[in-house]
Amino acid sequence: MAAEPIKVLMVCLGNICRSPTAEIVFRNEVAKRKLEHLFDIDSAGTGTWHIGEKPDGRARAAAAKREMDMESLQARTVSADDFHHFDYIFAMDAQNHSDLKDLEPDNAKASTELFLTWPNKEQGQDGYAEVPDPFYSGESEFELVLDLVEAASKDILDHLIDTHKLAL
Ligand code: 4NP
Repeated sequence: MAAEPIKVLMVCLGNICRSPTAEIVFRNEVAKRKLEHLFDIDSAGTGTWHIGEKPDGRARAAAAKREMDMESLQARTVSADDFHHFDYIFAMDAQNHSDLKDLEPDNAKASTELFLTWPNKEQGQDGYAEVPDPFYSGESEFELVLDLVEAASKDILDHLIDTHKLAL
């Protein structure tokens, strides 16, 4: 019987900038290693303002420049069920992490972590412990988000391959 996929949820505030970027980048890193069949990857927001919307046009444009397509994604809000369904829930910033901890049910399956410092990366990614919110910033901030998320995704995927003993 096929192994259960490892279920990963990326979370930010609006689910239109950082977490859909993390979803698509992590998916891309998984695909590069031909491990798509072993992962279930999604994203959500702690806020409700953008439910049903596509990712922000600036996030889509930045991802498209790196040949990643975010057009089919739609924003949704984190639910209590997510804590039972997913194995790992990654918060893009400390406020998202604290909001998730407030929502976390007692018998949660998911391990809820700060994306850029997990696992055991006290200095974060390139000195960043949090993915900066690019919503009120310019194009260069969206590039920074992609750089941080790409590097962290590679490290986290390496760690998951190792700890879950995934065949390559
Ligand atoms: P995200 O960015 O959390 O990375 O999706 C934001 C999107 C929308 C808002 C804030 C941050 N907002 O205030 O509507």
